[in-house]
Amino acid sequence: AQVELEADSVLTGEEEDESLLLSMSSSSNKLQTREGWWTTFVLYDGCWMDRQAAMSVSLVRAQFVPRDDDVLLATYPKCGTTWLKALSFAIANRHRHPVVSAGHHPLLTQSPHDLVPFIELPFRHIHPLAAALDAIPSPRLLGTHMPHHLLPPRIGCRIVYLCREPKDVVISTWHFMNKVIEGFSIDFDKAFELFVDGCSPFGPIWNHYLGYWNKHVEEPDRVLFLKYDDMMADPAGHVKKLAEFLRVPFTDDEVDAGVVEEVVRLCSFEKLSRLPVNSSVVAGRVGVDERPMKNSVFFRKGKVRDWKNYLTEEMAKKLDAAIEEKLKGSGLTL
Ligand code: A3P
Repeated sequence: AQVELEADSVLTGEEEDESLLLSMSSSSNKLQTREGWWTTFVLYDGCWMDRQAAMSVSLVRAQFVPRDDDVLLATYPKCGTTWLKALSFAIANRHRHPVVSAGHHPLLTQSPHDLVPFIELPFRHIHPLAAALDAIPSPRLLGTHMPHHLLPPRIGCRIVYLCREPKDVVISTWHFMNKVIEGFSIDFDKAFELFVDGCSPFGPIWNHYLGYWNKHVEEPDRVLFLKYDDMMADPAGHVKKLAEFLRVPFTDDEVDAGVVEEVVRLCSFEKLSRLPVNSSVVAGRVGVDERPMKNSVFFRKGKVRDWKNYLTEEMAKKLDAAIEEKLKGSGLTL
């Protein structure tokens, strides 16, 4: 559908929003809504999100101009997007910005989210953002939380997808929302139930995972599928794999010189989270719900299995069972 898109005017009223969303979604009926996490969520073509995210997704679908040599870093929120962006940026730009004795490396002074922008964020500011995305020279590294089936129709570029153990994702999401949404204090049990029910930002999480997983199975050379826990267990192996996928494999000389380990170190949670740009209290961006957001919100613990400190055995079993049921037959194991 072609729609006249005026970002500043489309958001003036709920009815106008609804009509734009409907014109961009495959549904002709009123969008289903549910009291979500911090606000009402709409079910936009099978994906739960708040209304502003849905507007943004609609605008991206209509406006984004893809390039064949783009590389899209796709994640479900809280699966390690910040890490994946940092690693990919460091790998792809290592000849321009050496990582060995990286005194002036851009990652030391800029957030990974500024170096690798999301195509659908910040919400609403799509006009300036679209121009900014157009201005990035090829080959572009771009991020997205959009599920595969909602990506702009003409996207045919390579995609790196990163998923994570869902029990860790729900814990990370709950902490994140408590930090970024002022006055947000959703009861943890309620948040958990919504998550298990599929109602979470860009959820259901299993549909998000499966959309990219199925594409990966179909086209393994075009869609690389990674897991946070595996990356934590073998970061160097994943850095090499990522470099090959990005078509900038490490040479033997680089490997001998320890460049792979330098990339791992530069992008580690310990290194990035302690940098002033990522730990300062200064709001660096517009975030969820259009509120100012600090870069520090993207760093919490960076551990696997932190869910053990929060979920009861019963909760863990419930989420495991839901995920197992949804992934059955797909070949994807987490
Ligand atoms: P926790 O909340 O479990 O600590 P995203 O980047 O998709 O928003 O995901 C955020 C999660 O990734 C948070 O998890 C955060 O701490 C973790 N994280 C951020 N930077 C990381 C890094 N460099 N290495 C590993 N984990 C990182």
